[in-house]
Amino acid sequence: DFVVLPCSFYTSTRLSRLNVIWTLAPFSNPETPIQVIVYDHGQVIEDPSLTGRVGFTGIPARADIILNDTRVSDAGIYRCMVNNPPEPAEPGIGELALSVLAPPSLPVCQWDGDVDVGGSVRLSCSVAEGVPAPEIRWDKLNPEEISLPTEIEEDLSGSVQIVNVSSQTSGLYRCSAANDLGTENCYVNLSVYTPDAPSGVLQGVLLTLSMSLVLLALLALVLWLHRTGQDGRRREGKAAAAEEDDECYNEIRDSPSLMKRSFV
Ligand SMILES: *[C@@H]1O[C@H](CO)[C@@H](O)[C@H](O)[C@H]1NC(C)=O
Ligand SMILES: *[C@@H]1O[C@H](CO)[C@@H](O)[C@H](O)[C@H]1NC(C)=O
Ligand SMILES: *[C@@H]1O[C@H](CO)[C@@H](O)[C@H](O)[C@H]1NC(C)=O
Repeated sequence: DFVVLPCSFYTSTRLSRLNVIWTLAPFSNPETPIQVIVYDHGQVIEDPSLTGRVGFTGIPARADIILNDTRVSDAGIYRCMVNNPPEPAEPGIGELALSVLAPPSLPVCQWDGDVDVGGSVRLSCSVAEGVPAPEIRWDKLNPEEISLPTEIEEDLSGSVQIVNVSSQTSGLYRCSAANDLGTENCYVNLSVYTPDAPSGVLQGVLLTLSMSLVLLALLALVLWLHRTGQDGRRREGKAAAAEEDDECYNEIRDSPSLMKRSFV
């Protein structure tokens, strides 16, 4: 924007030797004032940093200046010193403070931390410019819009700590920086990593279990086959032994096996 800084004076002598000096002690750097513009013997000298942006509007009748294309760095204490020799008085000095309002610049959103379940995440947001100092706030936008407790730090930044992250933590977060002149937003999209470990482990366990069962069944089958094979052989052996016995006891008439045999 532009601004006219007024400076009027009264003198009883001619203006041929009028001398006007405007200085600025910027709010951002009050220790090093600059000479904004000088009028001396009909000549105008501007500070190089302001060339093309500053000018007298009514010299020599008035000492007002105009400042075009204002910037936040133009804010500060302006001092207008008027001297009109040979008028004997001390130079007249007037002072005014200039504030330059600015909408917030685009904030920068960041997050760090652990987005695993149970972890903790810090969302931070900082804005470089804005006069008056922008108000910073964090909101979670979905599933419904809720305002988050935002810690405000001195250097125009605000952060939110989210502890014990869960799947509900996932979603879109907005930081807004707002003052009288406007609002600017930045966003963070958090997706909490929910490992499908429980189902994965379950699947693994089930798979292992079923494989073990199959193996067990195979083992049982093998054992059973082995056992029946041995039994068969043993039975054959027994039968053979019995036959031998029969032969042995052939002569013995009242042998029980013989009796048995006759019953069979
Ligand atoms: C300031 O801007 C106005 C309007 O654009 C212009 O007429 C004037 O010459 C400018 N003054 C200076 C010192 O640049
Ligand atoms: C974290 O959240 C889980 C589920 O909501 C809860 O059971 C647990 O107690 C919480 N842990 C802490 C330290 O708050
Ligand atoms: C946020 O991230 C999720 C998953 O990565 C994605 O599906 C979604 O579209 C993103 N939303 C925005 C607004 O970027």
